[in-house]
Amino acid sequence: MTTTLTWYGHAALGLKTGGYKLVVDPFFSGNPAASISADAVEADFILVSHGHGDHVGDSIDIAKRTGAMIISNFEIAGWFDGKGVARTHGQQHGGGFKHPFGYLKLTLAFHGSALPDGSNGGNPAGFLLTTNDGKKIYMAQDTGLFGDMKLIGEEGLDLAVVPIGDNYTMGPDDALRAVKLLQPKVVIPIHYNTWDLIAQDANAWAERVGKETGTKAVVLKPGESYSL
Ligand code: NI
Ligand code: MN
Repeated sequence: MTTTLTWYGHAALGLKTGGYKLVVDPFFSGNPAASISADAVEADFILVSHGHGDHVGDSIDIAKRTGAMIISNFEIAGWFDGKGVARTHGQQHGGGFKHPFGYLKLTLAFHGSALPDGSNGGNPAGFLLTTNDGKKIYMAQDTGLFGDMKLIGEEGLDLAVVPIGDNYTMGPDDALRAVKLLQPKVVIPIHYNTWDLIAQDANAWAERVGKETGTKAVVLKPGESYSL
């Protein structure tokens, strides 16, 4: 069973696994780095890591058009219920659930989570997905560095997705430290080059990862995919 991850630009990801289509943090409208439009995205499930506009993005439109279920923390799932989204599933940090596409656990993230209209978005999260054939994928989404990444790494990660943009999230130096704690087989950087404020040289970062860790860094262009 092949699982394919696509980086759509910023923190927006597509995942195809076991015949299911997932989209994570689907920010396309107003995203200068987006490689696809919200109208073109196919999804069975939408994962939303926290309440900020560049992560909630086009979730409501995509959910209404496709009938996809939105999975997020309990507070954000309830907010989507109130926006007329038919299918939502709320979880909370440390809690996992066996969805059709795999076992999904919400992890810690050090960040904010206010929703675009000022509603309480609970606490921000990352995602740890165990696919139906046992692959482990950690999507850190927006976070600073935290020591408990070591605990996430103990799960034995096939792939980690980490932010490197700095200012709002980890920058390159802390993201390198994150790789050392997570020890994934492969790491993919996200949340950079969307705007000048978070411009980074991902290839230079990947070179450092190659020199200082046992992890392979894969730098994608928006729209490119990696299969595992
Ligand atoms: Ni954010
Ligand atoms: Mn963000």
